[in-house]
Amino acid sequence: MTSLTRPLIAPSILAADFARLGEEVDAVIKAGADWIHLDVMDGHFVPNISFGPQIVKALRPRTALPFDVHLMIEPADPYLEAFAKAGADHILIHIEAGPHAHRSLQQIRALGAKPGIVLCPATPPEAISEILDMVDVILVMTVNPGFGGQKFLSSQLPKIRRLRQMIAESGRDIRLAVDGGIDSHTAHQAIAAGADVLIAGSAIYAQPDYSAAIAALRPEITVS
Ligand code: DX5
Ligand code: ZN
Repeated sequence: MTSLTRPLIAPSILAADFARLGEEVDAVIKAGADWIHLDVMDGHFVPNISFGPQIVKALRPRTALPFDVHLMIEPADPYLEAFAKAGADHILIHIEAGPHAHRSLQQIRALGAKPGIVLCPATPPEAISEILDMVDVILVMTVNPGFGGQKFLSSQLPKIRRLRQMIAESGRDIRLAVDGGIDSHTAHQAIAAGADVLIAGSAIYAQPDYSAAIAALRPEITVS
C-alpha cells in the first residue's frame, strides 16, 4: 500500500494586508496553513524592499507553526543571527547571493535553525549538488524573485523533477518547496514533478475565503 504525502501549504504574507499583519497570520493558520512563509527583500539582491527581523519577532508569539524565512538579501551572513533570534525556524538563503553558501548554511545550523537553499529560475539544479547534504529545505523559484502575483514559469518543472531525484539519491529527508505563481492549477504540476511544499501569496491572500483557497491547493490524496 502506498500513499502520497500530503503537500504542505505555506502562505506567503507578502500578499497579506500589512496594516493587519497579525490578524492575517492568525487567519491563514485557522484556514489550515502548515508553515508561514516570510519574504525578506533588500532592494539590492531583488528590486523590492519588504521587512526585516522585527516583523518576524513581532509575529512569533502568534503561533508555534514553523516560520519559513526566505532571505532575498545580499549579503545574508550579517543578518542570520538576527533572524534566528527573532524566531525563524527555517532560514533560506539564495545560492546566487554569494560565493560562500557552505559557510552560511553551517552558520544557520549552528544558530539552531533549519538551513534551506533557494534557486532562481536561471540556476541549474547541479549548482547545489555539493551542499545538498547540508540543507533541510530546497526551494525552487517558479518566478523571478522580488514580487508576488507573477506568472508561474513552467520551464522550472524539469528542475523540480531533477531535484526530487537528487534528494532521493541523497537518502536524506529534505523538503522540496516551490514559490511563485502557485495556484490550484500550477500546484498540481509542481506536485506531479515532485514538490512537497507549496508557497502561495496571492492565491490565498487575494481570495475572500482563505480556507477554500488553501483547500483548493491541496490535491486529492490517492491511496492505492
Ligand atoms: C517572490 C516571493 C514569493 C511571493 C509569492 O519573490 O518569494 O514568496 O510572495 O507570491 P505569489 O504566490 O503571489 O506568486
Ligand atoms: Zn518567497
